[in-house]
Amino acid sequence: MSTQYEVLEYLRYFRELGVEYIDAELEAFRTPDSSAPSSVRSGEIPPTISSFDLKPLASEIASVEKPKPGSRLKDIPSLASLSPQRTSKLEKNETAPSMQKEQVADKPQEPQTIRSTSETLDDIRADIGPDCSRCKLSTLGRRQVVNSTGNPNARLMFVGEAPGADEDEQGEPFVGRAGQLLTKIIESIGIERKDVFIGNINRCRPPKNRAPEPDETAACKPFLLREISVVRPKVIVVLGATAAQNLLETNVPIGKLRGRFHEYYGVKVMPTFHPAYLLRDPHKKREVWEDMKIVRDYLNSVANKDHWK
Ligand code: URA
Repeated sequence: MSTQYEVLEYLRYFRELGVEYIDAELEAFRTPDSSAPSSVRSGEIPPTISSFDLKPLASEIASVEKPKPGSRLKDIPSLASLSPQRTSKLEKNETAPSMQKEQVADKPQEPQTIRSTSETLDDIRADIGPDCSRCKLSTLGRRQVVNSTGNPNARLMFVGEAPGADEDEQGEPFVGRAGQLLTKIIESIGIERKDVFIGNINRCRPPKNRAPEPDETAACKPFLLREISVVRPKVIVVLGATAAQNLLETNVPIGKLRGRFHEYYGVKVMPTFHPAYLLRDPHKKREVWEDMKIVRDYLNSVANKDHWK
């Protein structure tokens, strides 16, 4: 941490996350810091996406993974192929496109991006139906399908693994203790929870909160991918190893995935630790804060180049 301003940011973040002894330290940093925006210096306005004086994160942005010429793009799921018309085939337990292993073409391929779609989030929800039984989780004690929620025009999306007990009861993602911490994490970068979109790779609670099994994920994930096509977020923050590995189709551990953007159909994906993990090991909050700062700064850097959603 090179400047007083950065220390102040850390302290604010830890306070946001419920670390109670932080106020005295924050007070000590209320002395003016010429490198901080005035609103931050005064201590009145928390750093928000619009009030931050951005230091361009050129190195982070430059390190974003891009598909390499000739890479196996055909092995990556095509969001476009997950149109509503495909759903009936998926319902018959056909292998989802994301799971198909096609032959690798020799010729270099164009990087794929999310294609626009005319369907709506309501269409997708109607397609899922209230009593979805596409996978065995419907018979293993789940109370209800927990659909994604939030702003359909969100620039920032969060993706978790699967609902827990609270979510299963209330029918909304991330409403339990981990969800409350997620709200603080969102607010720590100056965004309100109502302005983001939040979903899970699996929409039904697995028994005893076990990790979703591959067949369960294969049945459910296509709906999340369709939602990504509708919302078209600028950044997806994917929470925890299971969700990150599932979304990015990799076995790389979360500790190695986090801290930098990955490219997913033209959307930047930031893997980070799951808030439930942070409840068990609060020391990891620092890494999540680092990841969220990268997200915040990227969103700021594209704010004026695109419409503000
Ligand atoms: N954990 C998740 O991954 N998702 C939720 O919705 C709640 C807890």
